Amino acid sequence: MKSLKHLNKYLFKYKYRLLLGTFFIVLSNIFALYPAQIIRETFNLVEARLTNQPIASTGFIGDYFQSLSFGKAILAFGIVVFMLAIIKGVFMFFTRQTIIIMSRLIEYDLKNEIFNHFQLLDTSFYKENNTGDIMNRISEDVSKVRMYLGPGIMYSLNLITLFALVVPVMFSINVKLTLYSLTPLPVLSFIIYYVSSRINKQSEEVQAKLSDITTLSQETYSGIRIIKSFVKEKLFITKLHDENEIYLKHSMKLVRTHAVFFPVMMLLIGLSTIFTIYIGGLEYIKGNVTLGNILEFVFYINMLTWPVTAIGWVTSIIQRAAASQTRLNEFLETQPKIKNPTNQHFEYSGKIEFKNVSFAYPESGIIAIKNISFDIKIGETLAIVGRTGSGKSSVINLILRKYDATDGTVLIDNQNIQTLNLNELRENIGYVPQEVFLFSDSIENNIGFGYKNGLPDDEIIKQAAKDAAIYSNIIEFPKGFKTRIGERGVTLSGGQKQRISIARAIIKEPKILIFDDCLSAVDTETEDVILGNLERIMKNKTSLIVSHRVSSVKNADKILVIENGEIIETGTHQSLMELGKMYYTMYQNQLLEMGKQKVE
Ligand SMILES: Nc1ncnc2c1ncn2[C@@H]1O[C@H](COP(=O)(O)OP(=O)(O)O)[C@@H](O)[C@H]1O
Ligand SMILES: [Mg+2]
Repeated sequence: MKSLKHLNKYLFKYKYRLLLGTFFIVLSNIFALYPAQIIRETFNLVEARLTNQPIASTGFIGDYFQSLSFGKAILAFGIVVFMLAIIKGVFMFFTRQTIIIMSRLIEYDLKNEIFNHFQLLDTSFYKENNTGDIMNRISEDVSKVRMYLGPGIMYSLNLITLFALVVPVMFSINVKLTLYSLTPLPVLSFIIYYVSSRINKQSEEVQAKLSDITTLSQETYSGIRIIKSFVKEKLFITKLHDENEIYLKHSMKLVRTHAVFFPVMMLLIGLSTIFTIYIGGLEYIKGNVTLGNILEFVFYINMLTWPVTAIGWVTSIIQRAAASQTRLNEFLETQPKIKNPTNQHFEYSGKIEFKNVSFAYPESGIIAIKNISFDIKIGETLAIVGRTGSGKSSVINLILRKYDATDGTVLIDNQNIQTLNLNELRENIGYVPQEVFLFSDSIENNIGFGYKNGLPDDEIIKQAAKDAAIYSNIIEFPKGFKTRIGERGVTLSGGQKQRISIARAIIKEPKILIFDDCLSAVDTETEDVILGNLERIMKNKTSLIVSHRVSSVKNADKILVIENGEIIETGTHQSLMELGKMYYTMYQNQLLEMGKQKVE
């Protein structure tokens, strides 16, 4: 239950709604109380008339209605009861309008809190967890927590105020009758608690099965071509059939429990009424209570049974909410490993330096970089080449502070990057990742996404597209820059996506530009055009170009060749060719691939 404390700050935030809601609950219960007393009066009146006794003035309204004729008095009673019921209904409406709305507002706030936390977490969190699962679990958990905040709190308050109002009245009439008629209630609430826990458990099983079926059928649909070409249709039909069978069994179990639930509840409520009438009858014979009192008690008991049934239900709601909130708290308490150390401004020039840097991935322990040292001066272009898996992307991860180095230091403009404002660091870097990710939005918006000062105008976007050598492709689309990409839009080729991703980084006008093997799907001629444009754009700025293709790096000021996380060769294209080792071999192999036979 402790986990639910997290929500107190929200309850406090909406304290006025909560107070108002409580006030409405009290009012609606007060108006529910009066009809019972009026009916007692009516009954006493009828009894007196039938037995020709003088009418005893036992109640507050009795005195007033004595002045009316018998028929009129009964009618008046009826009208009053009706009016009271309407007033009670109005206040119940207001109760829901305050408390249930409060729960929705808190749900909204809680979702925002969670969303903001998602944004705060770093790469390693997203590597360790399957985000889809977390998202699903969280939205389910939040809705369970809302059940506690809305119905849970509302029914609990209702129960408390109703008991506080009704039970004293009952005791004041007859202690023995009160005690007897209240005894079945705890049994009732225990049974409801038991049954509703069972229902919850069973419906969770049904839900889980249903999601199994959904997963299976989704996979079947998306893999239908493979399934057909391997002639495995029968196998999948059997699989689905079996899953459905299990689902059916679980559902039937749930239906059975439901079917038992209501009759049993009704039986118990009925029993407590009968009990009241029986004990009331005995007391009436002894002359301790009037007939009106017995009827009044039946009303009270009926008023109490519903909220008491709710105890069982509310208890299981609260338990589930507590379990959900525990999970949510766990998530909210997850701290990003990479934190922003300062909000201070720092003017970047763009010098990068690695000093004896080693790095192992915290999730897997794989050592990706071993004792690397190098520097890139302002305005220089550094290239890193090496086979896949040699550690190129890992070097970039460290510059972007997606991870922190295990040993050694990464410096930018002679400052340890762990001391720099993290947001500013990333703002100053134009990064084109190896795996392109574009939003399901227009091309225009995808490129403009990188722009730092609000919305870029068309000319700026066009220029970025031209620099990334994608402009001519874009204007060939019927909708040009407004073309939508993604599931409901056009499908771009790998090279086109890479170039849009490049335009998005260029438009940022960064101090440092990083290309992580992002020209792999672009042909060499286009690559030359892009690299030529870069020379102009990145004049006096720092560029880092990572590639497994030598052709991309020929013109760099300095080239690092890395292998197994270590720098094995450093130099310019010229000097590395003269060295005649790894770089030379790679260059020759790639020339062969391209069908050229001769090394220049
Ligand atoms: N997120 C990660 N978690 C664990 N290991 C990783 C991760 N990313 C890369 N590696 C490992 O680190 C090594 C270097 O990878 P990477 O830097 O991506 O190489 P490259 O970019 O040169 O292809 C590889 O052995 C790779 O398997
Ligand atoms: Mg890589």
